[in-house]
Amino acid sequence: MEHPERSFIMIKPDGVQRQLIGEIISRFERRGYKLVAAKLMTPSVQLAKQHYAEHDGKPFFEPLVKFLTSGPVFAMVWEGKDIVATGRKMIGKTKPLDSEPGTIRGDFGIDVGRNLIHGSDSVDSANREIKLWFHAEDLNSWKPVTQGWIY
Ligand code: PPS
Repeated sequence: MEHPERSFIMIKPDGVQRQLIGEIISRFERRGYKLVAAKLMTPSVQLAKQHYAEHDGKPFFEPLVKFLTSGPVFAMVWEGKDIVATGRKMIGKTKPLDSEPGTIRGDFGIDVGRNLIHGSDSVDSANREIKLWFHAEDLNSWKPVTQGWIY
């Protein structure tokens, strides 16, 4: 059966080090989104390069890969209506100083190289990223009891 929209959301090493995992999960849960997969892991250089492949060659590519592989990230898949676009709104702009208060980067970040979290920028990217980071059997289809009170 076809599932609702999904997004790949990843707390980067700075967010893990700053112990913001619970805060960030809580924001998505309270909004009404559903967690379908999650893992704490240190990505390999190969995985980080594949994830950011479209930016290969840009000046920030190598520092970004180095940063992402510097320690554990918390990789997640979230599900629900318009999660890709709404997740990006909840995260804020790439540069934390351009992000509105109330967004994750606007509440917790200052520097673009330490912007805490990644969210897929389109449904196509989400599908690619979810396949890259998770096996199909890691994605949980489940129905929270609150479902009827959100939709
Ligand atoms: S672009 O060129 O406009 O498409 O790039 P952009 O969408 O702004 O950013 C792509 C990802 O690279 C991260 N980024 C950086 N990281 C570290 N340092 C610098 N200077 C930097 N500039 C951009 C940016 O956060 C994006 O990563 P994600 O994980 O998707 O946020």
